[in-house]
Amino acid sequence: MTEKKYRKDFPLLQNNDTIYIDNAATSQRPAVVIEAEKKFYEEANANPLRGFYPLSLEATKRYEDSRTVVKAFINARSEQEIIFTRNTTESINLIAYSYGLNNIKAGDEIAITIMEHHSNMLPWQMVAKQTGATLRYLECEKDGTFAEETLKEGINSRTKLVAMTQVSNVLGCVNPIEKVVRLAHEVGAVVVVDGAQSVPHMATDVQALDVDFLAFSGHKLMGPMGIGVLYGRKELLDKMPPFLTGGEMIQSVTREGAVYAELPHKFEAGTVNAAGAVGLAAAIKYVESVGFGYIEEREQALTKRAMKGLARVPHVTVLGSDDPANHTGIVAFLIDGVHPHDVSEILASDGIDVRAGHHCAQPLLTYLGVHNATRASFMFYNTEEEVDAFVKSVAGVRRSMGYGE
Ligand SMILES: Cc1ncc(COP(=O)(O)O)c(C=O)c1O
Repeated sequence: MTEKKYRKDFPLLQNNDTIYIDNAATSQRPAVVIEAEKKFYEEANANPLRGFYPLSLEATKRYEDSRTVVKAFINARSEQEIIFTRNTTESINLIAYSYGLNNIKAGDEIAITIMEHHSNMLPWQMVAKQTGATLRYLECEKDGTFAEETLKEGINSRTKLVAMTQVSNVLGCVNPIEKVVRLAHEVGAVVVVDGAQSVPHMATDVQALDVDFLAFSGHKLMGPMGIGVLYGRKELLDKMPPFLTGGEMIQSVTREGAVYAELPHKFEAGTVNAAGAVGLAAAIKYVESVGFGYIEEREQALTKRAMKGLARVPHVTVLGSDDPANHTGIVAFLIDGVHPHDVSEILASDGIDVRAGHHCAQPLLTYLGVHNATRASFMFYNTEEEVDAFVKSVAGVRRSMGYGE
């Protein structure tokens, strides 16, 4: 029954018998990713994009080859549309500071959803405050779906930008990006997609989705921490001013000013995280070798098993849809009378790693009428035994807290 085909690829899972089901926070890394970073430092370490000696040229080549891997992975038109950042948060801030502050003005509207992670909310709060634009929150139904009228009213002739997560980090639901892009483009608004929770779990094609910007993090995709990606449509990126200025992002500098480098380097100031980019490329190749067909099928099976198990435990409520197909491996839940911090500590004492708290989505939790929740999030390398141990541990929580049942 248990699927362990890819488990051996993950050193931490071999060296540690913890049941790691906090993958939405960060995934584990396969040995090929750790090796790729190590190899970069062992074989090609020099400051990329600066030196003319062979080692620096090799570092540059490996860094730029990694960009080509990312480009192909999300089907961007050109490498110029791929900007390396630190993470999703930095990618979205880049759009907010560079595009938002320069293209949005008083009287305009920015539409985001109530389920956004703070990383795709606070930058837009900042833009709205600084420009005088109105920040409009599109509210979802309890299962995470959006009513047709909500989208149509929320995306209107005043809307200049729509920012939406493709998958909620709390509800796990997949949002209707194609429909939102259609509505936004009809009124001339640009669309920013937070792909932090979607890119690791499903195939992404930026041309098919027709999005203007897409942000994601390497570390949730089995890549290194400290490397992220911003995809942007070239026509937009070309017109945007740099977010950070300094070394590496210029063609020439005088006392009076500077001519900025071409894309993508205009947006990559300072020494870049080349080893991180190389590690991310290795992670992408690993994901491709596993295949999204397999990833989706396994994560679906594990989610279904977890939700079926939790449904049999009294006093447990799962947030979001009743259908495991709309959870993308994410199962956030409440246990009557027990604070999620206690839930996660009790689960930890059984060797199970889950996240508890507001999940950086406080407005969503407030909207749902809860303060905190516990979240299990599965990756294709988890096993049925791990899911069963998780459900068993959850079933014992109330007893541990002194309740009769
Ligand atoms: C939906 C979503 N967006 C953005 C982020 C922020 O990612 P990072 O911390 O890698 O910038 C997260 C991380 O949990 C997330 O789940």
